[in-house]
Amino acid sequence: MHTYLVTGGCGFIGVNFVRRVMETRPDWRLINLDALTYAGNFGSISDLDGGRHRFVHGDITDGDLLKRIFDENEISGVIHFAAESHVDRSILGPAAFVDTNVTGTFKMLQAGLEAWKAGRVAPGFRFLHVSTDEVYGSLGAEGSFTETTRYDPSSPYSASKAAADHFVRAYHRTFGLPTMITNCSNNYGPYQFPEKLIPLIIFNILNEKPLPVYGDGSNVRDWLYVVDHCDALLTVLEKGSPGETYNIGGGEEKKNIEIVHILCDLVDQRLNRPSGTGRKLITFVADRPGHDLRYAIDASKIERELSWRPGVDFEEGIARTIDWYLNNMDWVESITSGEYHGWVNENYGSR
Ligand code: NAD
Ligand code: TYD
Repeated sequence: MHTYLVTGGCGFIGVNFVRRVMETRPDWRLINLDALTYAGNFGSISDLDGGRHRFVHGDITDGDLLKRIFDENEISGVIHFAAESHVDRSILGPAAFVDTNVTGTFKMLQAGLEAWKAGRVAPGFRFLHVSTDEVYGSLGAEGSFTETTRYDPSSPYSASKAAADHFVRAYHRTFGLPTMITNCSNNYGPYQFPEKLIPLIIFNILNEKPLPVYGDGSNVRDWLYVVDHCDALLTVLEKGSPGETYNIGGGEEKKNIEIVHILCDLVDQRLNRPSGTGRKLITFVADRPGHDLRYAIDASKIERELSWRPGVDFEEGIARTIDWYLNNMDWVESITSGEYHGWVNENYGSR
């Protein structure tokens, strides 16, 4: 058995990753370290706990806890997801982004380095840092981000992820720690917290609430189905080279307003509502400060070197996502009511 340490495995991408590993890697054990912030939901993986998945309720800024985890387990690799991840929250309260994304990543690197230097990790150890394309800043109408695009972050969120990326790269160059970085475009799919565009719009259409579109809705994002992202991360972990960076994207560029229109029309169809019902809820609101105009990923390196490419196109992925939310409204409601925090505190003690 190989033991991997996943951080933030109760968040959106982490939950999908844990589930994917359980399905596809029978010889892996996971230690899932998560602080269960507002974005972490133990209920999303509680059915897997015990056996090959072990949940540890704790904070990545807790160096003693990290040392204990590395001392007690021969870790084959780290998949570092834990972060504050929402741009709008980073505008309202950036401090948590510095604590978790910058200091937390530094603590993870330091704990990993000490274990690696002492020979307490498994042979072939890797530290995979999961980052974002937002570190590259905004594109105009043309072009796409490559792995050599200059960093130019716009929001406190992307600035904190950029700082973390620099530390990860520095730990490879200075100390030789076998780190790798992935910079991925916008993910969508099951288990995404309903503050992000796609689940927020689905949730509001279902509840006949206004659909807030920032500015004129012409900002463009490159969308990737979350399970494809998880497979890309597994590919990098198993085949990537230490010190390298890999961009990951879906090649599915869409304006925000197009996304909102697609969601309105598909949800209307699913609910047999008259066409146009959802679109009537669209409300243009003040733009996000520092709002990046366009993101687009050039994912040719990971395709060329590691043979990964997305398997699910937007049409298929968005249909699966809508169906998942329609079938899991109790999940959305428990998330928004904070019910799951009560469950975890009863079972694991509060933070
Ligand atoms: P998320 O906000 O849904 O989940 C974050 C998880 O980290 C939660 O479970 C939370 O409880 C946990 N966490 C937060 N602070 C912690 C701390 N101090 N200690 C331990 N756990 C903590 O985020 P997500 O969308 O799943 O993103 C995961 C990672 O992927 C992040 O690093 C993010 O920057 C990156 N990323 C996300 C996207 C996207 O579209 N969602 C795209 C590219 C990269
Ligand atoms: P979001 O899901 O927050 O991801 P990110 O900001 O990391 O790309 O937002 C995606 C796009 O949707 C972004 O251009 C901002 C826009 N947006 C809205 O127009 N309305 C909303 O309510 C939200 C949350 C986002």
